Formats: sequence, structure tokens, C-alpha cells
Amino acid sequence: MRIKYLLPLVAMFAIGCTTSGNSDDVDRRVEELLSQMTLQEKIGQMNQVSGGYQFSDMIREGGVGSILNVVDPVEINAVQRIAVEESRLGIPILVSRDVIHGFRTIFPIPLGMASTFDPAIVEQGARVAAIEATASGVRWTFSPMLDVARDPRWGRVAEGSGEDPYLDVVMGVAMVKGYQGEDYADPTSMAACVKHFVGYGAAEGGRDYNTTMISERALRNTYFPAFKACVDAGALTLMTSFNDVDGLPSTGNEWLLSDVLREEWGFDGMVVTDWNSAGEMVSHGFAEDLKHSAELAIKAGVDMDMMSFGFLQHIEALIDEGRLSMNQIDDAVRNILRLKFRLGLFDNPYVDESLAREVAYAPEHLAAAKQCAVESAILLQNRGEVLPLRDDVRKILVTGPMADAPFDQLGTWAFDGEEAYTVTPLAALRKEFDVVYEPGLFFSRDSDTRGISAAVRAAKGVDAVVVFVGEEAILSGEAHCLSQLNLQGAQSELIAALRATGKPIVTVVIAGRPLTIERDMANSDAVLYSFQPGTMGGEAIADLLTGRAVPSGKLPMTFLRDAGQAPFYYNHPMTGRPNNGTETLLNDIPLKAGQTSLGCTSYYLDSGYGPLLPFGYGLSYTTFEYSDIAIDKSCYSPNDTIVVEYNLTNTGKYDATEVVQLYVRDYVGSVVRPVKELKRFERVELKAGESKHCRFELPVSDLAFWNRDMEYVVEPGKFGLWVAGDSATGEAIDFEVR
Ligand code: NOJ
Repeated sequence: MRIKYLLPLVAMFAIGCTTSGNSDDVDRRVEELLSQMTLQEKIGQMNQVSGGYQFSDMIREGGVGSILNVVDPVEINAVQRIAVEESRLGIPILVSRDVIHGFRTIFPIPLGMASTFDPAIVEQGARVAAIEATASGVRWTFSPMLDVARDPRWGRVAEGSGEDPYLDVVMGVAMVKGYQGEDYADPTSMAACVKHFVGYGAAEGGRDYNTTMISERALRNTYFPAFKACVDAGALTLMTSFNDVDGLPSTGNEWLLSDVLREEWGFDGMVVTDWNSAGEMVSHGFAEDLKHSAELAIKAGVDMDMMSFGFLQHIEALIDEGRLSMNQIDDAVRNILRLKFRLGLFDNPYVDESLAREVAYAPEHLAAAKQCAVESAILLQNRGEVLPLRDDVRKILVTGPMADAPFDQLGTWAFDGEEAYTVTPLAALRKEFDVVYEPGLFFSRDSDTRGISAAVRAAKGVDAVVVFVGEEAILSGEAHCLSQLNLQGAQSELIAALRATGKPIVTVVIAGRPLTIERDMANSDAVLYSFQPGTMGGEAIADLLTGRAVPSGKLPMTFLRDAGQAPFYYNHPMTGRPNNGTETLLNDIPLKAGQTSLGCTSYYLDSGYGPLLPFGYGLSYTTFEYSDIAIDKSCYSPNDTIVVEYNLTNTGKYDATEVVQLYVRDYVGSVVRPVKELKRFERVELKAGESKHCRFELPVSDLAFWNRDMEYVVEPGKFGLWVAGDSATGEAIDFEVR
């Protein structure tokens, strides 16, 4: 019999934030206030209303606990004054907003932030966002989005960290730390909201809001870890998701919100629904009507209702009818009041109305946004080392619909970023080169090919062509899913026509998701991929094209050859007929071939085994050599730490940074295990020609997973370990756990 090592579910990232004052004091103040509240006032606290609604009178009567989508500090102070000075108990309003990748200074979209593999810059981005948003009075953001997303058709891949649970953990925790700062009550601290709990990224077919079928084991192994890690790191709030998992809409799932979140994980923060996700349980056919949906949501463990108004309208009757208890309401209100006390809102409800404009776009914010955009760009191809552009390249053609698209380079959920402050690639490149600008197409979906000939004519007189293609901001994000992922409009035709000029072609893709760009890569010498890079994207890209900065980003999602391959992710469970290295493709099959399956393995006849590019992939202007990769033992016991050492040498001409990745495979498990799993990564900076001896430390306990008996264990046996520059290269080093 195999002996398993049962592990206590210790906090992976128990770094925690501090509360203001001590928690006994907060609890005392919560109880004192709660004891004075009428039922109507309690219900009011559980109600969140959006800007655009006439809520002043409701606030005065104690009918609103939180508002969203109001960002003007004057207006926020006015609302706060009504709550604090004119309502009976003077409970401050909690002002919230989707501050997803920056408030005024917009950082790359979260998928781009994940491409940096640099939690420090991501944390800094969240800190900048918090400083700018809290200056307006926004103390709660609906971020980070922790939905593991493995299907690029889903528009919301833009908003998360991609397909890998571990990268999701690291980036999620970095954002929580950045938003919430050192002390919740500091006026620059903004409560994070981890969302969408849970499984929303697994929408069938990559179609937003769609159903999901995720086993409990897959939830625990893949979809929960980032939520758990952020809860351990002190995330103050959590949002339920729109979708159902195995028939249960999250907003009404008591197992999820009470048994797992509260009981198992000990979450003492506040749970909010997504926008009308309580009401949408009626559309799901899970609740009979709005009243029933309020009952289900509260019983499941929801504290605050975003925009269904079901709590406001029906809690009183639900209590009268005995369908809800006063204890259930009190628990929810406690969670809400605790949050408000923790944020110091009672002591400090107002903002200095001039501060918001003073801190917006501060030079250090712009510098951090630029650094993040530099680190997030991924070099996918560089034939003939066409990049960085050589010194003798003076005159360039800048073309394509994304070259000068200040609004679109901000990406999805950039409500408060202003295009006037955006530096586009065209503007930045004009400072460096003799630029001929001929857009060719005017927006990403433009299929009017008449402008292409002007771009081709202009290409004839230049040293190199830089073509900016991709997606408008509105083509990704919530409710913006696609069934095919090629470049929209005539963008591929533009690249192909430029190719025919024989000039060096540098293609820069600015998009909200991984697109299927195989033919565009074939028609380009170099390809740089920039998930919408935000305010400073233009300067960042100019630095990368000229070689002032060297690309270091890596893919946070697998790039597909064709949308029909989705979902496709590197860390999939092993199949019974895995890749054996032989592919019989469509045109290899003889006519009237007899039916056969023997010898065939898991691949597509038209696109083969592989994706276009693997997770973790990204080139540099230099080259790196990995050598002497070794582990300290061949056999470990459960309490050991695996020490992995390696040499990394920069064998090229540029000082650069490599994202070194450590993957593990558990060869035999009580359930089928992933082919590989990312366990650690590190950005290693090296001067040209420099070597470094580096190490990773990986506790054996990090090999634990939820096994056949739904226990969190390290199962003894054989493992493989890789240290490499992406998920598809490197040699396995085997070891055992006994
Ligand atoms: C719906 C989205 O799903 C969620 O992510 C967002 O925070 C809310 N709307 C509020 O805007």
C-alpha cells in the first residue's frame, strides 16, 4: 500500500496585511453598532447601488451600504456627507470601482502583467492604482480576477493571469498586497476583491457566462489555489461568479461560500455578488423569482448584493416568513461593518478633493507603468536579428491600425484612464526615427483594403517597416468572446502586402488575448507581442524596438495555431495515448483508407500535436545557456526541501533578463496527473557574457495535490523536474519521494 503524506493546508502566502487597531477593538465596535441597527438599516448595508441611480435619499434613510461607479471626489464627498452626517447612524459608504490595471495611469492588461513573471512590478502597479483611486475616495476595487483561463476565445482572458494556477497565485497575491498596502486603514489602502469565485474562466466553448462542469478535485487543484492564497494573504473581499459549476450557480452555492470559504479557509472578509448575479439565478432556472434568489444567496453566504435589489426588496418578508433568520442577516452585516472599520472609514470618511488630480499620472507612476509594459512584451520571433533595429535604420514606415490608437492600447476595463495621457507607438517612434506614417487600415476590424496600397508604396522608400496590428480594446474583456482568433479585418492582408516589398518587416501585435497569428509570423521577420500595454505602451515599445530595453516577457497562455484547438494548455492531464512523435496529418492519409485507431494518438489531423507556441515561451535579443542543472539528492522525504542548482550564461551581445522556470511532473498518481506543472520561476539578470550560479528551493510539500480520496497529499513515488526557459524545453531530472 502506498503511504500518503497528508498535509495541513498551511497558508501558501501567509504574509497578511495588518488591520488598523486590534481586531478585538474592531469586533467590539461592530457589535456596538450592530446592536443599534434596525432591520431596515441592516438590509441597507447589504445593498450596493451603481452611480446613475438616484441614491441620495436611499443613503439618507440608511438604505445603501456601498456604491460603485462614482469616481469624482467632490461627488464622493457629497455622498459620504449624506451617509455620515444625515443618516441616523452615520455609517460611511464604501465606494467601489473596477480598478483593474490602473486608475488614471493604466498599466498593461492583467494578462500582460502576468507576462512579466515579475510579482514586484505587478505589486507596484497595484500600489499605484490604489494611490490614484483612493485619492478620489475609491476604497474598494473589484480586482484581482483570479480565474484560470485556458480558452482564448473567452474575452476575459485579458483580465487574468492566464492558464497556470501557480502564476495565478503569485500574481494574485502581488496585486492584493499592492492594493491593500501595509495597513488596511491607511488612506491609500484599497480593499481587494478576489473574483470570480469560482470557475468562471472555464466557461464551455469560451463563451462568457456559460455553464461549467468542474469536478471538486479540479476546483481544488486548479481553480481554488489562487483564491486560497489571496485569502491567506489578507484579501478583504471576494466576489461570486455568474456561472454555475455542475448545476450550482456560485451565488447560491452554500458548499462553496460557507463550507469551503468560511469553514475551511477561515475567511472573515466580505462576500459580494457579481452584478445582479443573485437575480440571474432566476434566469438560470435555479430560483423561482427575485425573492427566492435573495434567500438562496444569503443562505449560501453572500453578504452584499450588487445590483439585483433583491436583498433590499425581500429580506424583511423572508424573515417574517421564517425563510431567513436574523442571525443570518447579522452575520452578513458584521462582515460588512468589519470591512468598513478595518478600512478606517468611520474615522476618516472624506478625501481631500484636490489630491486626485495631484497624484494622477505622477512621474513615478508613469515610470512604473512603462517598466511594466517593457517587461510584459514578448518577443515571439526575430529572424535575421532584425530587432533591435540597427543604427543604420533611420527611416521607417509605421503602419497598421494599432500604431496610433491611444484609446485601444489601454485595453479593457480602463474606465478612468484618459487617452490624452496615452503615449502611442507612433508618437514615441517619431522621437527616434524619420517616420513615414501610413496607417493602411484605420481600426482593427477595418476590412477596407484601399489604404493598403498607400502603405505598400510608402514602404518602398524606407529602411524597415513596423506594422502595428491587433485588437481594439472592445474586442476582449467581459462579454466579448470570439469563435475565431485570426487578426480581424484586413490586417493579415496588410502584413502580407508589406512582406511582398522585400523590406524587413517587424510586426507588433497589441491585443487582449492570444491570437492565432501563424501566417502573420510567416510574413514577418520579427514579431513582438504586447498585451494591451496601457498609458506608456508607446514608449515601452519604442525602447524595445531600438534595443534600449531587451524583451524578457514570457507567454502566460499557450498560443494556438487555430481556434479549434482550444482549450489547449501545457499542464493538461496525461492521456492514455500521448504524443509519440509521429503525426499522420490530413494529406498523409491515402484515399479510401481503412478505419484505424491503433497507433494513433491524441492530436488533430489538421493542426497536429503542438500549439503555435508553448506556455512560458519568449525570446530575447541575447541567448541564454542553461548548464549544470542538478538537484541535491535523488530521494527526498516529505519534510525535505529540494535544492535545485543551475548555471545560466548570457551567451549573446545584450545585457538581458531571463525568466527561469521550474516545472515538475508527478509520474504516477492515484489520479491522472498533469504533464507538467510550474512550481517556481525567477527573473535572472545577466550582463552580456556573464554567468550566474542560481538556485531554487522547493519544499517537497509543494508537490501535494488533492488525490483520489480528496485529501491534500504528497504521494510518494517518482517525479521529474525541469529548469528551462519555457514549458516545452529542457531535460527531466528524476527524483523520488519516499
Ligand atoms: C460584472 C463583472 O463580471 C465584474 O467583474 C465586475 O467587477 C462587475 N460587473 C462590476 O462592474
